[in-house]
Amino acid sequence: MLKLIPKIRPRRPTRSYAAVLAPRNESYAKVMQSDLLAFENFLGKDAVQKDDITNHTTDWTGQFKGHGSVVLYPKNTEDVSAILAYCSRNKIAVVPQGGNTGLVGGSIPVHDEVVLSMNKINKQFTFDDTMGILQCDAGFILEDLDNKLSKLGYMMPFDLGAKGSCQIGGNIATCAGGIRLIRYGSLHAHLLGLTVVLPDEQGSVLHLGSAIRKDNTSLHTPHLFLGSEGQLGVITSVTMTAVPRPKSVQSAMLGVESFKKCCEILKMAKSSLSEVLSSFEFLDEAIMECLKVNLDLHPVLNKSTPFSILVETSGSNEDHDMEKMSAFLEECYSKQLIVDGVLAGSSADATKMWKLRESAPLAVTRDGYVYKHDVSLPLESYYELTNVMKERCGDLAKRVVTYGHLGDGNTHLNITSAKKNEELENLMYPFLYEWVVAHGGSISAEHGIGQLKLPYSTLGKESEERLLTKKLKNIFDPNAILNPYKMI
Ligand code: FAD
Ligand code: MLT
Ligand code: ZN
Repeated sequence: MLKLIPKIRPRRPTRSYAAVLAPRNESYAKVMQSDLLAFENFLGKDAVQKDDITNHTTDWTGQFKGHGSVVLYPKNTEDVSAILAYCSRNKIAVVPQGGNTGLVGGSIPVHDEVVLSMNKINKQFTFDDTMGILQCDAGFILEDLDNKLSKLGYMMPFDLGAKGSCQIGGNIATCAGGIRLIRYGSLHAHLLGLTVVLPDEQGSVLHLGSAIRKDNTSLHTPHLFLGSEGQLGVITSVTMTAVPRPKSVQSAMLGVESFKKCCEILKMAKSSLSEVLSSFEFLDEAIMECLKVNLDLHPVLNKSTPFSILVETSGSNEDHDMEKMSAFLEECYSKQLIVDGVLAGSSADATKMWKLRESAPLAVTRDGYVYKHDVSLPLESYYELTNVMKERCGDLAKRVVTYGHLGDGNTHLNITSAKKNEELENLMYPFLYEWVVAHGGSISAEHGIGQLKLPYSTLGKESEERLLTKKLKNIFDPNAILNPYKMI
């Protein structure tokens, strides 16, 4: 690598929330042998799995374990339609599942819902390499799509640590954010059209939106499915824009002594790196320690600092971008905003930096029981939340660590303890989420509500907005069979 440069005592919770999940809704039918035979009949035997399904009934963190007894593998939209029509007519609850990398327990059954896996709907792929418009099946893995686009000079406009497993349909259903949102915007900016199957008695197939960039002839209905968490319908095909693959990517890691300086650096990055800035990621020293202890991953900076920033530029001219990045780093140094910094001199160097950031979720799960948080906050409160929670949790927490997408105000505060701890939970909740809302934030930045945040989902949302959401759910899912006990 090129070396470039030499608290408040908490108050008691004010409201209580039903932290327990809803009991099984007995109006749903239980899956019987006759149903399994019917599924085998219209899908084929190989599409109905009854044994060894724990991968589909347990989430990535291992904290959510459902009780479903069957996984269905439709091969195309028609199969999905047949499943939803059958289940709707027979009042069988269904949970759509993509790559099962979601972090709020949204993709696994709570009780005995049938799992509808999208793993086999991954054949259709077309790409217009002039307009940069992609049409593909919803079961494609994000990284596979990105690799296909790479050969055509393009890339997906978003990226996340789970790219090797998550699917584009799941990404749309969660409105995934990730590490490039600062540059390319959210999926709202890229989605053009969807094929969705409704959970009604006909299994209605809808083709929403179109494959053109500008189309104001109707409401933008595909966007209703962004972040819909499998509540409205099953997405089977996606039409969206991709972006030209950058020819030059520069990564640098900066050591910073105060959070205030991190924010000043962000402001400077936006003005100095402007059109080439593609990521601005944040790690505190507690997550660095957690990475070292649990994964044997070591910092790339020589000096240990309370905060590290991973900044990336993506552009089309290596000399130009390198010059910009170097000038930016020199300015950071001359203004005494950073005390250490390295610019990746090779892709191996960059990979080492990104490995630290992208391994953070794994490092915390290895630390013990992890209480994950994914919230948005105005920058003045971004790290204050960590300090407040550190003070509040005291010795009950094993570790209080923070990483996140500082460039878009999304913090991932993770609190670990040796094992699940009710006393710690009572200290944290609902205090944490109330604090976030009181400070102008959102209790779910990018992971969604799922099961994890259901007890807090009313926080910060007007009742009119929630009522409208429920009305929409009733229109799309009249028999309420899709992904019950969650989000809505
Ligand atoms: P699943 O987990 O299978 O499902 C998620 C939700 O979508 C469920 O409610 C499910 O019912 C629904 N769903 C899935 N497929 C469909 C479909 N075809 N039709 C209708 N509904 C569907 N998230 C971020 O936003 N940013 C990050 O940076 C990020 N990093 C991560 C890093 C790691 C290591 C891990 C494990 C997760 C990370 N996540 C991140 C969370 C997760 O990867 C995303 O939410 C992802 O978009 C989920 O996609 P999936 O295919 O795994 O969906
Ligand atoms: C991340 O940014 O690393 C992800 O959203 C996952 C997490 O919060 O752990
Ligand atoms: Zn994230």
